[in-house]
Amino acid sequence: MDKKYDVIVVGELNVDLIFDKLGDKLPEVGKEIFANEMILTLGSSSAILAANMSTLGSRVCFIGKIGKDSFADLVLTSLESKGVDTSSIIQSSEHKTGITVACSYGNDRAMVTHPGAMNHLTIDDITTEHLKQAKHMHMSSVFFQPGLKPDVAELFKRAKEAGLTTSFDPQWDPNEKWDVDLKELLPYVDVFLPNIEEIKFMTGTKSRDEALESIADFANIVIVKDGENGSFLWSKNEQINQPIFTNPDIVDTIGAGDSFNSGFLSKFIEKQPLKKCTEFGALTGAINTTSAGGTTAFSSINDVKDIALNRFGFEIV
Ligand SMILES: Nc1ncnc2c1ncn2[C@@H]1O[C@H](COP(=O)(O)OP(=O)(O)OP(=O)(O)O)[C@@H](O)[C@H]1O
Ligand SMILES: [Mg+2]
Repeated sequence: MDKKYDVIVVGELNVDLIFDKLGDKLPEVGKEIFANEMILTLGSSSAILAANMSTLGSRVCFIGKIGKDSFADLVLTSLESKGVDTSSIIQSSEHKTGITVACSYGNDRAMVTHPGAMNHLTIDDITTEHLKQAKHMHMSSVFFQPGLKPDVAELFKRAKEAGLTTSFDPQWDPNEKWDVDLKELLPYVDVFLPNIEEIKFMTGTKSRDEALESIADFANIVIVKDGENGSFLWSKNEQINQPIFTNPDIVDTIGAGDSFNSGFLSKFIEKQPLKKCTEFGALTGAINTTSAGGTTAFSSINDVKDIALNRFGFEIV
């Protein structure tokens, strides 16, 4: 039977309020400074992934928790404008929608986050009926979801038992504890998508090869993302070194990892060969760097096709 969705994304949701053009002054207690530009936009790595997969043609449903406030409306309308199904997003009147306030200084940002409702998503919010509607489950940012973190292996086990393929991008741990048991989790994860620093911290190792060796007995497919050095796919039967598509005019790399995941997974769920999946992930990662933030370059599939052809000489058919 055909499923309603290609992908169910379980993840954190928040808005970003970014202050820019602050001059060289930092905010100080008892003083006030001007930001000559600001943007209020949908944040969160999971949302970037969901939005970009939808633009690339997948049918995407999101499960997350937000408040019942005007920031919640921004989250919902932004995802809906990208074609993401928001009917399973839970709105809680007890909690506020998460927000990150960022002050931009050159390429760096000073950030303050109130996680709000995203702290309170739990495994009980994700039913087998939800899971059975999709072919694939993706989860990002486990360390931003303390309500779900203790049960993450159980969630992936349930997804596998419901017949889904699965993927997991840990993202950074702001507490730097890296306390997810990979031995318990990874047998249920078809594609593990950390970056190089994340996999080293999670395995307590010092290099990519040591990290991969330490999880080889229980991991399935692992992709280690490494910025301008490209990515490396490891599985028992196949290893792929995937270089980047070079972009001489980078605007910023915010969300490149999520856009890589979007491209990779959109081919993976079509059961394309892994080489095609990694190549497409590298392409969408590079497309991400042609505009500001994680979703601007993915405004429509036709724009994505234009950028792919004109900037990277790649024809998307
Ligand atoms: N400067 C760049 N030029 C071209 N491609 C890039 C660039 N930076 C990243 N990419 C592509 O995107 C992929 C993922 O990027 P990266 O390694 O930064 O992931 P990440 O650390 O998970 O990022 P994020 O901060 O978005 O979570 C890279 O493997 C590469 O293919
Ligand atoms: Mg990442």
